[in-house]
Amino acid sequence: MTGPADIGALKRRGQRIAVVTAYDAPSARIADAAGVDIVLVGDSAAMTVFGYDSTTPITVDEMLLLSRAVRRGTTRALVVADMPFGSFQVSNDDTVAHAIRFVKEAGVDTVKVEGAGSRLRRVAALLDAGISVMGHIGLTPQSVSQLGGYKAQGRTASKAQQLVDDALALEAAGCFAIVLEAMPEPVAGAITRALTIPTIGIGAGAQCDGQVLVWHDMLGLTTGHVPKFVKQYADVGRDMLKAIETYVADVRAGRFPEAQHTYAMPEDQRELFEADLASFLHEKG
Ligand code: KIV
Repeated sequence: MTGPADIGALKRRGQRIAVVTAYDAPSARIADAAGVDIVLVGDSAAMTVFGYDSTTPITVDEMLLLSRAVRRGTTRALVVADMPFGSFQVSNDDTVAHAIRFVKEAGVDTVKVEGAGSRLRRVAALLDAGISVMGHIGLTPQSVSQLGGYKAQGRTASKAQQLVDDALALEAAGCFAIVLEAMPEPVAGAITRALTIPTIGIGAGAQCDGQVLVWHDMLGLTTGHVPKFVKQYADVGRDMLKAIETYVADVRAGRFPEAQHTYAMPEDQRELFEADLASFLHEKG
């Protein structure tokens, strides 16, 4: 079982870190078998699983349900659960109480919290409660209205410097790794070199210590806009559509089920059953 310290060791060994999101047990099982280092139960589930148009509506209870399923599907990789919007904004006590639910009820190893600044107090409180924390800066989807939309961050010298300062502050606060989302490659590269903890990039270029992609985006299950930084590794959505269309056609044409999909019964029992049924129907009139 991978722990947060093992993820730090990967950076020290110069081994790049592979992370994917997952939201259910079968997907987590596939990710684990494929050798990913971290499975992230992202609050992107608000969009990928629940069909909302942003991450903010998803609740702690919904995230717990998905995190429990992912935990059951994972035996080797580190499982990180995203703390959803509203679960860490109010107070340190509230934040710790929610994170404890993720550890106790879902069995996850660590949590992820978006942002820096005032969030540093939350990171310290979580660590004080014995819960490891992954940071997340750059494009933080929970603050998308404040950021003015899903846009790359840190594109001016002063904003880039702010991201470096935020990353250093999260490292000093005790995060074991930091997600860098949607920022220019030179900025992510500078952060990666400045930190001793690993950076996990998404839309942040090739100089990060690791990469994360959203399950539905990389496998072709996302309908609508897919960010430019996504590489699509399969078109599972197209394969699923073809499979279900074939099933519908088979059912309508009587091609499914066939003999091999059907239960038989011993011949003598069938004859007995049919005789009993015939006499019952006869008596019934
Ligand atoms: O919610 C999510 O999937 C994430 C990743 C994009 C890092 O936070």
